[in-house]
Amino acid sequence: SAAEIHELMTGRIAEFPDFPEPGVLFRDITPLLADGPAMRKVIAHWCSLLPADLDVIVGTEARGFVLGAPLAYELGIGFVPVRKAGKLPGFPRSVTYSLEYGTATVEIAQGAIAPGQRVVIVDDLLATGGTAQATAELVRDFEAELLGASFLIELEGLGGRDKLADLPVSALWSIP
Ligand code: PRP
Ligand code: ADE
Repeated sequence: SAAEIHELMTGRIAEFPDFPEPGVLFRDITPLLADGPAMRKVIAHWCSLLPADLDVIVGTEARGFVLGAPLAYELGIGFVPVRKAGKLPGFPRSVTYSLEYGTATVEIAQGAIAPGQRVVIVDDLLATGGTAQATAELVRDFEAELLGASFLIELEGLGGRDKLADLPVSALWSIP
């Protein structure tokens, strides 16, 4: 149940004040990842929240890999990694976006998503939404059908959901 999943998560996601910089309360998923039975329950429940008939899970480096891959495996569909700049060979598609300090670039390999494929973006955490918004722009550039973005944790109040505008957003644990 949603309540059981919520309890699993609250007990297994650690909080670190002022990491990686003052004023940030960092949510660390390491204890959850280390607990196999809890992970199986979280992944099974998460699958039930995703749209039907998906073709591809797109997951963001690095924590989006660890959660997106078991989701894709469980659904029997493809996983496409979104990488930080400079990691992918060939001619990846790139989008550069602004962070609180400076900019970041995300990339998807050329040809990794076919036009019309049904895609959901997955990551561990939605904060300002900059990463997910840039990823959405990348996915749409492939002329894929982007059905939504789904997160383990949503930090409400940082405006992430609003930034994603018309994109349906789901989260297993929304923190006010
Ligand atoms: C974190 C998190 C999301 C992003 C959320 O990744 O995993 O990808 O930040 O922030 P936003 O909504 O404000 O864009 P991070 O860049 O720390 O990378 P990591 O997964 O490699 O640790
Ligand atoms: N990424 C952006 N904000 C974060 C936070 N508060 N905890 C963990 N990862 C994050």
